[in-house]
Amino acid sequence: MKVTVVGAGNVGATVANVLAHKDIVDEIVLLDLKGDMARGKALDSWQQAPIDYYSSQLSGTDNYKDTAKSDIVVITAGIPRRPGMSRDDLISTNAKIVTSVTASILKKSRNPIIIIVSNPLDVMTYAAHVSSKLDRTRVFGMAGILDTARYRAFLATEIGVSPKDIQALLMGGHGDTMVPLPRYTTVAGIPVTELVEKDKLKAIVERTKKGGGELVKLMGTSAWYAPGAAAAQMVEAIVKNENRIFPCCVNLKGEYGLKDVYLGVPVTLNRKGVGKILEVNLNKREQKLLHNSAAHVKAVMKTFDKMNKK
Ligand code: LAC
Repeated sequence: MKVTVVGAGNVGATVANVLAHKDIVDEIVLLDLKGDMARGKALDSWQQAPIDYYSSQLSGTDNYKDTAKSDIVVITAGIPRRPGMSRDDLISTNAKIVTSVTASILKKSRNPIIIIVSNPLDVMTYAAHVSSKLDRTRVFGMAGILDTARYRAFLATEIGVSPKDIQALLMGGHGDTMVPLPRYTTVAGIPVTELVEKDKLKAIVERTKKGGGELVKLMGTSAWYAPGAAAAQMVEAIVKNENRIFPCCVNLKGEYGLKDVYLGVPVTLNRKGVGKILEVNLNKREQKLLHNSAAHVKAVMKTFDKMNKK
């Protein structure tokens, strides 16, 4: 299997590095217009192979011809947030980048699976889907794993248990309207509501929603370790044909009473990309929050449509 990662910034380089450590693909190509950066980071990762014991071949490039016949492409290209910016503020720059990257990829790989990581995530997934004309099962976005991981990490700290034992579901857009679902959160099988007080849980949900922004404030740029690892985990589920359940951003066509929108919902991932879209029961309040998140994403999709017409 061959995986291309577009964008050799912090996130892209982390995806390539974490994926190499999993040792599950033959070849990883890191592509960036700044070719020497991609070549340097790929070479650095390759020199880590004798230490950490992996055989996936890593190479860096600025030429799309080196991406030919990729099975999976992870797109991280674009500018990251700076303090005070929302993800939506990135649209004018990143929409153009993601659209042209997708077109260039498709010239060299006929039917790849494309995972979008660039922000604003849900709308960039839309941009790539439109530009690629691939089936919706083959173009989807990474956000839910990251947002759920933040939620799980906060809960692990609060309860004083291993993050391994926190299972959770989070849906909606990758922004402040995301919907963590305490009703579907357990700690080694125990409902989280039995272990964490209501107010504390509420505070954790709110912190999760702004989890990306918290890191932008601390670092002056957006996060990369957890986002990179999350995208690599999606690649793993695909390569190993695992049918793992993750919240991913997909084009909804009536699921949850929503259509013509790209939003995070639980799906299974396997060799073909998105297998099933799972429709879990939501109560009235949860449904309202999800539809509110969809409305927010739709508004940003409209901005993209207007830009595209110009
Ligand atoms: C974040 C960026 C990657 O949430 O969207 O950290």
